[in-house]
Parts: sequence; C-alpha cells; structure tokens
Amino acid sequence: YYESTLYELIGGAETIRRLVEAFYSKVAVHPDLKPIFPEDFTEVKEKQYLFLTQFFGGPPLYSNVYGHPMLRARHMQFPVTPTRVQAWLSCMSAAMDEIGLEGTYRDAMFERLKMTAHHMMNTPEEKE
Ligand code: HEM
Repeated sequence: YYESTLYELIGGAETIRRLVEAFYSKVAVHPDLKPIFPEDFTEVKEKQYLFLTQFFGGPPLYSNVYGHPMLRARHMQFPVTPTRVQAWLSCMSAAMDEIGLEGTYRDAMFERLKMTAHHMMNTPEEKE
C-alpha cells in the first residue's frame, strides 16, 4: 500500500523552507552556535533545505548535488561539544514551535534529529 513520508505529511517543501528559516535565525543569535557559523547563512540554509528534504523522505536533493551526506565527517572541522548539541536542538525545537509544527509528526522528526545531533558530537566541552 501507499505510505506517506514525514516530508509529505508536514506539507513538503514549503514547511521545510519555513523550518530552515526559523532555525537559522535562532542559530545566528545563539551565543554557543554563532561563533562556529559563517556570517552569511545563505549557503548553509540552502544545504540544510536540501538535506532535510531527503532526511524526512522527500526527493534526494542533497545527494543529487553533494553526494553521500557523510554528515559526521563534514562536521569534523567544527568543534561540536555537548553544549553545542543541546544548543542546536534547542534552536530546532524553538523553530518547530515558531512555525506551528506540533504533534506526532513533530515528535518523530525531533527524535531523528536528536539522534543525528548526538552523532555529530566530536569535541569535549571547551574550557571558558
Ligand atoms: C553544516 C554545526 C548538527 C546538518 C554545519 C556547519 C556547522 C554546523 C558549523 C558548517 C557551516 C559552514 O558551512 O560554514 C552543527 C552543530 C550541530 C550540527 C554545532 C550540533 C549537533 C547537525 C544536524 C544536522 C546537520 C543534526 C542534520 C540533521 C548539516 C548540513 C550541513 C551542516 C546538511 C551542510 C554540510 C555541507 O557542507 O554540505 N553544521 N551542526 N547539522 N550541518 Fe550541522
């Protein structure tokens, strides 16, 4: 039978766009995240849009352009500490609130993002 993907269930491209916009507007002002991101979020927003589309079952937009995501490897050049994992997830949760993404689809998405975020951790806590 036909099974819908999370991507379709939440409203597809438009919802992913809104989520990405809301998310990076929070990352851009978060004291723990801001320092490791570039000033200009244009490129990272586009990449995340492509990635999240395929991550939630939409078309493989990211891989079509960049090949295998290898996300952990692509994050190795940035110090992803436990604090930054929590910060990333808190921005994501706040972005989901902001765009009105609720209920079981939101919970399913957040669980997957949580696992992936923890998998990105590559550096112990930095000293002040
Ligand atoms: C790229 C930080 C988790 C997906 C990046 C960049 C940084 C970063 C600094 C590079 C920005 C640049 O281009 O200069 C973090 C931190 C995380 C985290 C601190 C904490 C857990 C995640 C998660 C995902 C993700 C959970 C996916 C669900 C991506 C993607 C890119 C990216 C797709 C672009 C990769 C590319 O260059 O093609 N991230 N990230 N990140 N991140 Fe994360």
